[in-house]
Amino acid sequence: MDSEVPKTKITLPGLRKLFKLYSYIKPYKYEYGLGLLFLLGSSSASLIFPKLIGELVDLGNQGKLAQEINRIALVLIAVLIGQSVFSYFRIFLFVRVAEKTLADLRQHTFNHLIRLPMKFFQFRRVGELNSRISSDITLLQDALTSTLAEFLRQIIIIVGGVTLMMITSLKLTLFMLMILPVIMILVVLFGRYIRKLSKQAQKQVADSNVIVEETLQGIQSVKAFTNEFFEMLRYKQKTVEIAQTGIKNGKLRGAFSSFTILGLFGAMVAVIWKGAHLLATGELATGELFSFVIYSMFIGGTIGGIADVFARVQKFIGATEDLLEIFNEPVEEVAEITSLPPNQVLHGNIRFDSLSFHYPTRTETEVLKQISVTIKPDTLVALVGPSGAGKSTFVSLLLRLYEPTQGHILFDERDNQGIPISALRSQMAIVPQDIFLFGGTIRENIAYGKTGSTDELIIEAARKANAWEFISQFPEGLDTLVGERGTQLSGGQRQRIAIARAVLKDPKILILDEATSSLDSESERLVQDALEKLMKGRTSIVIAHRLSTIRQADNILVLERGRIIEQGTHEELLLVENGLYRNLSGLQFAV
Ligand SMILES: Nc1ncnc2c1ncn2[C@@H]1O[C@H](COP(=O)(O)OP(=O)(O)OP(=O)(O)O)[C@@H](O)[C@H]1O
Ligand SMILES: [Mg+2]
Repeated sequence: MDSEVPKTKITLPGLRKLFKLYSYIKPYKYEYGLGLLFLLGSSSASLIFPKLIGELVDLGNQGKLAQEINRIALVLIAVLIGQSVFSYFRIFLFVRVAEKTLADLRQHTFNHLIRLPMKFFQFRRVGELNSRISSDITLLQDALTSTLAEFLRQIIIIVGGVTLMMITSLKLTLFMLMILPVIMILVVLFGRYIRKLSKQAQKQVADSNVIVEETLQGIQSVKAFTNEFFEMLRYKQKTVEIAQTGIKNGKLRGAFSSFTILGLFGAMVAVIWKGAHLLATGELATGELFSFVIYSMFIGGTIGGIADVFARVQKFIGATEDLLEIFNEPVEEVAEITSLPPNQVLHGNIRFDSLSFHYPTRTETEVLKQISVTIKPDTLVALVGPSGAGKSTFVSLLLRLYEPTQGHILFDERDNQGIPISALRSQMAIVPQDIFLFGGTIRENIAYGKTGSTDELIIEAARKANAWEFISQFPEGLDTLVGERGTQLSGGQRQRIAIARAVLKDPKILILDEATSSLDSESERLVQDALEKLMKGRTSIVIAHRLSTIRQADNILVLERGRIIEQGTHEELLLVENGLYRNLSGLQFAV
């Protein structure tokens, strides 16, 4: 999905957002304020510098006493030392504040992201989100440490410098001011164009990162389909684009830099030319001209750098907008569950009340239509039906991963909207269709069902899930690494780890979305057997692809194209003339 390139114009709302981000600095405002003071100190010191040098030259020129000359020189050295000390503390303090602020910002971003509803992730690609956020945060780091400080320093130098120059010679200053603004405007215009290109380059880099990330994540599929060359080509195209944009950018940067040099030295020549005339008429002293030239150099250099800072501020606003856009997405009201208040405890009765649903990304296709069904406490309910009928969607709604577009889901006759989302989810466990294991150890993966569980509990859960047998055969036992996404385990093993995880959670409602890949009959029996043990005392919902799994279900819901078309027990459904279930089981059991 192509994300909009954020606008980076410096506008009032943009600046307001920027300041909103600066609110993250609040806890460290004293440190930051101190840093600003040091910045003020070091900038002022650098302003005094040319003035003192001018005086030094004039003293020499006037043939003053050596003592006096030495005094000024000593003051100069003191100013230099002051400036270096100030600089040290300024950088140190700013970096400290920036690092702490960034840590807060990173946490805030992650905490926010993780609580966003599934709907949000439907519209974003994880790779893009990831690289955008990390590049945005890097930009902010730059902004917090150097950009603002740089900007302030530049303002101080320009304003202070011009003031001091005016005191020295109003005429010459006005002359210089006639040239400078022209250069300045050109610099800004130029800078604006370069900025646009660098934003484009940034976006292209992000796109190329998405390719790398997705390819590596799906490396097995890439290889299996011998699509290495396809991916290489895809990546190559992107990198070539990046290079082209970069080169175009480079040309402009070069032109920009020569333009700046020309403008600045041209201005310098003009100032000295004008100054020489003033010297000749005695309106200016030599030392004054000297300090004037140094001030002009300072100011010229500052103006050269200001476009860069300007660009950085704009990028900063762009990054801020990106982040704030994410921050403005409403989060789910998740809460840490320590103990459930009695009125939030589920008893296992579930009712779907004329529920309809479509996914947020595909508003035109209704996936579930007018579902009304009751699931009684402590029963085993099976969902069957052709692929794409909406079975997995049914359970996603149960977990409130998505909200129905119409109708309601009631738990113990209470609307699920009235039950806190975390309380609800904490009493359900799902063994999903595509099992996701984290890249750590088996222990960590099982413990994910209930973090902080003891080994004893973990082993017990593994036993119940018929997983202990194979885990104990690994030389490293619970410490066995499962590989990225669990790829170093077999499908059946992964499934049993996922079941153990669910067991550990000890939910009131257990959901099993059976993987379509059929297990061998021995593994299937183990999984089956594990499930039977697990279903006691809870409501279980099993999505089964193998009908043998569900013969003993209390109720079987047959789903087709989003509707429940039949329901009943195995025996009952077999009696339905031309029934879908009867057809399906005829097919399966005939083999
Ligand atoms: N995240 C999603 N976004 C948009 N559409 C989706 C999403 N997930 C599923 N769908 C669509 O919703 C429909 C129902 O999908 P669902 O996963 O519920 O089917 P299923 O009954 O579980 O199928 P299977 O037996 O193959 O697992 C399908 O047409 C599918 O394309
Ligand atoms: Mg499914």
